[in-house]
Amino acid sequence: MKHTDIRELFAHTDGYADTTVTVCGWVRTARDSKNVAFLEVNDGTSFRNLQIVVDKSRSSEETVREAMDAMAVGTSLTATGRLVTSERNGCELELETLTVLGKCPAEYPLQKKRHTQEFLRTIPHLRIRTRYFEAVFAVRDQLAQAVHAYFHSHGYRYVHAPIITGSDCEGAGEMFRVTTQPWNASYESEEAYYADDFFGKKAGLTVSAQLEGEMAAMGLGRIYTFGPTFRAEHSNTTRHLAEFWQIEPEVCFADIDDIIGIAEEFIKSIIKSVMENCPDELAFFDQWVEKGLIDKLNHVLNSDFGRVDYTDAIEILQKSGKDFKYPVSWGCDLQTEHERYLTDEYFAKPLFVVNYPKDIKAFYMKQNPDGKTVAATDLLVPGIGEIIGCSEREADLEKLTAAMTARNMPLDAYEQYLDTRRFGTVPHSGFGLGFDRMLMYVTGVGNIRDTLLFPRTVGTL
Ligand code: 4AD
Ligand code: MG
Repeated sequence: MKHTDIRELFAHTDGYADTTVTVCGWVRTARDSKNVAFLEVNDGTSFRNLQIVVDKSRSSEETVREAMDAMAVGTSLTATGRLVTSERNGCELELETLTVLGKCPAEYPLQKKRHTQEFLRTIPHLRIRTRYFEAVFAVRDQLAQAVHAYFHSHGYRYVHAPIITGSDCEGAGEMFRVTTQPWNASYESEEAYYADDFFGKKAGLTVSAQLEGEMAAMGLGRIYTFGPTFRAEHSNTTRHLAEFWQIEPEVCFADIDDIIGIAEEFIKSIIKSVMENCPDELAFFDQWVEKGLIDKLNHVLNSDFGRVDYTDAIEILQKSGKDFKYPVSWGCDLQTEHERYLTDEYFAKPLFVVNYPKDIKAFYMKQNPDGKTVAATDLLVPGIGEIIGCSEREADLEKLTAAMTARNMPLDAYEQYLDTRRFGTVPHSGFGLGFDRMLMYVTGVGNIRDTLLFPRTVGTL
């Protein structure tokens, strides 16, 4: 259908002013009075709606009739008219002709201007038509483009890691199984059962692309992956999904300090890109979702992230005088309440917590000389907690296999991974950024279920 995007009309109003244009879209709101009617139309290309003005005294009877037919919220239409500049709206369309493409009866659930997020979660297929989700998805898109732009301009290769895999990277037992086999009780053992399955062995959905990423980096130097990640976590929280998106760079010849520097530069770069390219959406979030959001993001861009040793963080928490639900002692994993105290109250900015106890972290992390900690860091941000898990990798074959054996991991399943340490091992580091959590941080959206189209969480598909 020949028409002009509404985005284009707002972007180049001067060029279109006083010419006849055709637009397509859906009615977001409509107002009618005796002499004039207004239809606010959105076609998905622009966060701003285009106002169509129906001057009843100057329009043909048929045009008025069609326009009245289009007054129901959600109606799809195509409209032609003269584009005029408007002080209030930038530009408006003075209607000449209008055709309803699809009617929208009163059962359409999105009648009100604002609905609760809880209600909208029950209609994920329709909520994408609201301003809130339009803004979320504009920023989500921009953030993704910015991720690729950052790595591309810094000499990283974008690689695609498999989604179906046989190895569990995080070792937390949260893998979803992939199978084509119906249940059958006649097998003698688990192995025999899996041997008959599609791949001839047990398979699952990836919890992280890191291990494949490390192997790729050994040939390509610097790589990143950006793909879906799956975890059968039973955490029913505002920041856990069963299917989320993760960005995982892997960098050879980089130690823990190098990768922390890269992570900070990267986070700032993608925030800056959103601020430059999505000003209307951020203004919306600042007004309706998180007051002060734009100031917060500016502050993040213009200050250094904090850095604290895990051991010191424990001391800060112990001296905080706070009545935490989970008690704090050296060796404990930081709970959300602890992370929030550190980022929201004590440091009041993004914070790298460095050198965690080895027993609460994954097998692949570089063992520090103290024998107790690993060169690992989590980036915590105010309001959310952990958005990045990061570490220097253990490059020494013997130390690595010792850590795996201590965790009862089957070494034979990781033979290819161990070859990275056998053949030309190098110091290398990487991290994983939870993309959906990052989107929460830049928009102020408070529940991770509101960052993607069809969120998957325990019990909800
Ligand atoms: O800290 P995680 O588990 O780290 C890894 O997977 C490493 N292999 C990454 C690497 O070094 N290449 O996960 C990384 C990030 C977390 O910081 C968090 O932001 C996000 O992934 N994440 C989740 N996001 C949503 N829902 C979940 N269930 C998540 N689990 C982790
Ligand atoms: Mg983590």
